[in-house]
Amino acid sequence: MEPPSQNLKTTPLLSLGRFHISEDYGFLLPHPLKQLPDYFRPWMEIANELPHLIESHQLRARVNKMPLLNCQFLKSYREQRLAHLVLSFMTMGYVWQRGETQPEEVLPRNLALPLVEVSRTLGLPPILVHSDLVLTNWTPRDPERPLEIGNLDLIVSFPGGESLRGFVLVTVLVEKAAVPGIKALVEAVNATSHRSQNALLQALQRLRLSIQEITRTLGQMHDYVDPDIFYAVIRIFLSGWKDNPAMPMGLIYEGVSTEPLEYSGGSAAQSTVLHAFDEFLGICHSKESADFLHRMREYMPPSHKDFIEEIQSSPSLRDHILSSENSQLLTAYNQCVEALVDLRSYHIAVVTKYLITAAAKAKGRRPNPLPGPSQALEERGTGGTVVLSFLKSVRDKTLEAILHERD
Ligand code: HEM
Repeated sequence: MEPPSQNLKTTPLLSLGRFHISEDYGFLLPHPLKQLPDYFRPWMEIANELPHLIESHQLRARVNKMPLLNCQFLKSYREQRLAHLVLSFMTMGYVWQRGETQPEEVLPRNLALPLVEVSRTLGLPPILVHSDLVLTNWTPRDPERPLEIGNLDLIVSFPGGESLRGFVLVTVLVEKAAVPGIKALVEAVNATSHRSQNALLQALQRLRLSIQEITRTLGQMHDYVDPDIFYAVIRIFLSGWKDNPAMPMGLIYEGVSTEPLEYSGGSAAQSTVLHAFDEFLGICHSKESADFLHRMREYMPPSHKDFIEEIQSSPSLRDHILSSENSQLLTAYNQCVEALVDLRSYHIAVVTKYLITAAAKAKGRRPNPLPGPSQALEERGTGGTVVLSFLKSVRDKTLEAILHERD
């Protein structure tokens, strides 16, 4: 018999719905819109031609002629999310149209004002974030068929062709692969509060399977994304203007502030998935890594950030497992931690291939007429951290969470 819970009646159940997280799509925005009302046609016309306008260096001229539109005419949450996606893509294109060596340091008011307005409404920063690039940027070709890469399209693109498409859509599929894990996490939190050992054991086993599925899905990067194209073409459009030697002062948002503002670029470090798993499993990162990761939570939709904080304030899973003296639970917990370590090791291998090795190759090719990344940025991620030491520390601290049976 399982011991009865003292706080059975007082602890409210954790649920996805309370945080606007979908049972079917997790943190992905369900059924994202592809079109805005006709009033916003000037934005959509540019967005639909974005790769060509950037490649032909015409984007800045087109944006400069764009009328100043009023975000009050965005009627629904999904319209606001599409507006943030479209305006943030235009912003990255505007700033980086001529490569890392010639960034544009002033964003014109007809782009800056609506971007900042819709960002305030959504509680997001006025720059491209993971929730734009990935969570809002997918559409099925045939809604009746399963979500797989051949049945998905992007809504807005950058240059980079099939590699750009693959990079975004594999990440969409990673978010989808996390859905059973997020649901298992919710069940496990509730099972811990209600001291239900069987339900907790099963939920932990489902969480482990989902983490392993995320790792397998991440492996699809190799099939769809060319490292040279990722490094030389795509990466720049994800770069921000905080801790970035190419834009040390930040970006002036005309009409918003006379001082330049600094924001990090888009990165899957802004995905809620691993933040939620870390909090649930009680993983403690080093101060430096934790500072960066916590800052990335400011780049998530606020309800997703609230979900992480709710998990953080739930009763400790580790304490519960240790006090239960249940070796099956301890093993299931450790298997989740090991699966997360494997995922992080695999991610380090992906980053090494797509950033470190690709940078070394690009260096070997210089001088080269292609606008390549500047030396100062080579070993830095799009979020601006010194990549490998950060990622290894995060992985190694995950491993330290393994529990040992008490003597
Ligand atoms: C070509 C593919 C990818 C590259 C080159 C890449 C690169 C990076 C880099 C450079 C960082 C360091 C933080 C930063 O500077 O922003 C990072 C962090 C991170 N990335 Fe990726 N990434 C890739 C794909 C993915 C995917 C598909 C996911 C899945 C959600 C992911 C999840 C994460 C997470 C969660 C972090 C934070 C560190 C951690 O919690 O372990 N990455 N990535």
